[in-house]
Amino acid sequence: MSFLEIDHVSFTFPRHDKPVLTEIDLHFDQAVITALVGPNGSGKTTLTKLMIGVLRPACGEIRLDGRPLVEYSLGEIGRRVGYVFQNPDLQLFCGTVAEEVGFGLANRGCQRETVEERVAFYLDYFELKDYGGVFPLHLSQGEKQRLAIAAVLANEPLFLVLDEPTVGLDAYRKRLLEDYLKKISRSGRGMVLVSHDTAFVDRVAERVVILENGRVIEDSGRKGKAADEA
Ligand SMILES: Nc1ncnc2c1ncn2[C@@H]1O[C@H](COP(=O)(O)OP(=O)(O)O)[C@@H](O)[C@H]1O
Ligand SMILES: [Mg+2]
Repeated sequence: MSFLEIDHVSFTFPRHDKPVLTEIDLHFDQAVITALVGPNGSGKTTLTKLMIGVLRPACGEIRLDGRPLVEYSLGEIGRRVGYVFQNPDLQLFCGTVAEEVGFGLANRGCQRETVEERVAFYLDYFELKDYGGVFPLHLSQGEKQRLAIAAVLANEPLFLVLDEPTVGLDAYRKRLLEDYLKKISRSGRGMVLVSHDTAFVDRVAERVVILENGRVIEDSGRKGKAADEA
């Protein structure tokens, strides 16, 4: 059993005829970094939204940790799967940068000192420590992107889905993100990374899935899996 399983999933937006995703079969394991790539409009973001239950498949099934996703509340999914939005503006909602990073931990009932320690760590790692008291939407695009990632990572979710996380990051900050994602994966947590950044994908991903017109046209991980099952 894989941590996140997508079986025969198709999806069409309401009041549209053409399906955005057709017959998707993908299983994602813990400790593996999978890149999801493909042209604009191929359905990558839609697929990630199905993975976190924000959208529901028209047919097929998605299972998280062995249980159908429809049996979880969005909060239960959110505690297991961290999601970094393609547009950080849609994700940030707190009054200050520090609150944004600590929100999930505080909400889970972590002790104040623990929350403060972790917030300080993530603000430092993502070079936001001078902005702790700033209103998140007043940050630059790159800073917002780093904050959105820091806020999700601070929750230490079991699995991560990141939609275009390197947009707005310079080379040095991409390298920091790369180091951190690899560290997370070594700690046994898996992730799906949507990215147009081929250099970043080459360095970080262990498996690459290519989506085109809502179908998986290539999956570098599939060969190994098929061989195992044979
Ligand atoms: N809310 C929506 N309503 C209708 N169509 C949408 C919506 N969101 C995305 N689409 C369409 O679905 C297709 C896939 O979009 P998306 O998943 O965002 O692709 P990608 O992330 O690969 O660029 C595109 O044709 C897009 O226009
Ligand atoms: Mg997208």
